[in-house]
Amino acid sequence: MKGILLAGGAGSRLYPLTLVASKQLQPIYDKPMVYYPLTTLIEGGIREICLISTPHDLPRYRQLLGDGSGLGVSFDYREQSRPEGIAQAFRIAESFIGSDPVTLILGDNIFYGGDVFHQAFSQFCAGAMIFGYRVHDPERYGVVEFDSAGQALSIVEKPREPRSNYAVPGLYLYDNSIVEIARNLKPSPRGELEITDVNSEYLRRGQLRVQKLSRGFAWLDAGTSSSLHEASAFVQTIEKRQGIKVGCPEEAAFRRGFLSLKTLDDLAAAMPRCEYREYLVAVAEEARRSS
Ligand code: G1P
Repeated sequence: MKGILLAGGAGSRLYPLTLVASKQLQPIYDKPMVYYPLTTLIEGGIREICLISTPHDLPRYRQLLGDGSGLGVSFDYREQSRPEGIAQAFRIAESFIGSDPVTLILGDNIFYGGDVFHQAFSQFCAGAMIFGYRVHDPERYGVVEFDSAGQALSIVEKPREPRSNYAVPGLYLYDNSIVEIARNLKPSPRGELEITDVNSEYLRRGQLRVQKLSRGFAWLDAGTSSSLHEASAFVQTIEKRQGIKVGCPEEAAFRRGFLSLKTLDDLAAAMPRCEYREYLVAVAEEARRSS
């Protein structure tokens, strides 16, 4: 399965922060926001990744992440010249997707806990799979309505009167018919190619699975100043308590077997003296002790 990381948008809700750097480059505690969704893809075993951003911001991502070889993955960078909706990503990445299934993750979504996505990626075979996560403010999101047997009945984008508390997080798995579905999408009244219309089309075809994420799982989005702050506080709390890092792509790549111990050593050695480097050195030492 291939992966698309969408880091576009004007980031207007974070203005004036986004005058300085694009939304997905803002810090979430101790690292750039984009590290978190990138880590989710790597933890899930995805190695071919298309990163989509604005023409203005794309050079910054290239500078930050390079061609991916340092992480044992490959990055294909594509421009979204106008912010015309999440589903536009599939048109932009059509030649990248080729004839494969694909997962799309939004660059401002942070997931933490368990290996639910790794399982989903490795078991995925056809149709579409999305997730449902209980939130107190579903009207901010795409919302799934379930019947009494737990089957999805409808998905509505930012409904005024939500039919459930289950929001759809920004991680979606699609078979290759996504290419044709995205090609035929029409812009919504707000002028965007809506991801919710993609999911509704799979639902109409009887090919959509919605898996509820359990209560121990954390999904945060970081699109507003308060959610950015809350996400930082969450990450700091976990990291301090457990002595592990959340959203560390180098560690994830090493644990997935994308990087050798020697490459991890080299990556750490190339970093300036900092806490992030010390952490990677500790990960390598621990692996050496237990091998
Ligand atoms: C988008 C999607 C929405 C989804 C959300 C997840 O909303 O349109 O369906 O629930 O991402 O973060 P946006 O962030 O563009 O408001």
